[in-house]
Amino acid sequence: EYPEYVKIVEVGPRDGLQNEKEMVPTGVKIQLIDMLSETGLPVIEATSFVSSKWVPQMADHTEVLQAIHRSSHVRYPVLTPNMHGFQDAVAAGATEVAVFGSASETFSRKNINCSIDESILRFEEVICTAKQRQIPVRGYVSCALGCPYEGPIESTKVAEVVKRLYELGCYEVSLGDTIGVGTPGSMAKMLHSVKKEVPSSALAVHCHDTYGQALANILTALQMGICTVDSSVAGLGGCPYAQGASGNVSTEDVLYMLHGMGIKTGVDLSKVIEAGDFICKALNRKTNSKVAQARGDN
Ligand code: HMG
Ligand code: MG
Repeated sequence: EYPEYVKIVEVGPRDGLQNEKEMVPTGVKIQLIDMLSETGLPVIEATSFVSSKWVPQMADHTEVLQAIHRSSHVRYPVLTPNMHGFQDAVAAGATEVAVFGSASETFSRKNINCSIDESILRFEEVICTAKQRQIPVRGYVSCALGCPYEGPIESTKVAEVVKRLYELGCYEVSLGDTIGVGTPGSMAKMLHSVKKEVPSSALAVHCHDTYGQALANILTALQMGICTVDSSVAGLGGCPYAQGASGNVSTEDVLYMLHGMGIKTGVDLSKVIEAGDFICKALNRKTNSKVAQARGDN
């Protein structure tokens, strides 16, 4: 009943670092991505082409994207909220992008300064232009299991936004538990609604671990046919427009669980632990990964 293979989408260099208070040196970001590229990860979200006034930490997007050593086995999507970001991303050499919307009206305004409907219009333009250039577009729907401003979100509302992104042409839509409030109960309910609109092969889960529910929620998603999981090396992460949102589920812990279940990922756990060790030393902090804590000397 579980999938044989799960695709891991590493979001650490983007989601993991966007919320850091101290500016992370560009060279550190590049080295992190280069180390991750050697682990067998199939997808590494590298940076975002958002406004540097809104998210100063991602202001070096072009330098990062141009300096990393791209492996032919890895895809490197970048976030692009609008045409401005898309054009900058393409100019910097992006070959895959991601648009990010929300199931919560308030979060949409706080995060990207427009309503859900307006965001869909912006994404439509990005997706149409990307299609002409044969650039694949991934989609995100934030607040899929709850909003920092509005509280619980109706699963039918989540399904509606996911469907719109999928129909516009996103090849995959990632369901964001932005503030990590979901449980296996709310995850199952939400996925039940979403799967009525979009095939599970086109869905991913993106769990933040604020309430310690991420692995349980991921397991629930796997049981319901989802086979793409977003995670962040060392469990770094958080959204600057979601107060109290802590890190993503750590890639190390997800790998340990999947491999223990006999599920293939193609990713070398030890090498991810090394990359996590590197970024934690550079940020002068302890890893959020339980597996890295158990295995390592940090
Ligand atoms: P805005 O201020 O509404 O944009 O921001 P605007 O179109 O009104 O333009 C205002 C100025 O910004 C103009 O410059 C534009 O050129 C410039 P000016 O004329 O004043 O000099 N501008 C840009 N500059 C650089 N890059 C751009 C861009 N667009 C316009 N792309 C905008 C709208 C979307 C840009 C802004 O709200 C923004 O950057 N938001 C980013 C928020 C963000 O990055 N959040 C974190 C990522 S989402 C997340 O973490 C959740 C996720 O992990 C899933 C989950 O966990 O749920 C994905
Ligand atoms: Mg996130």
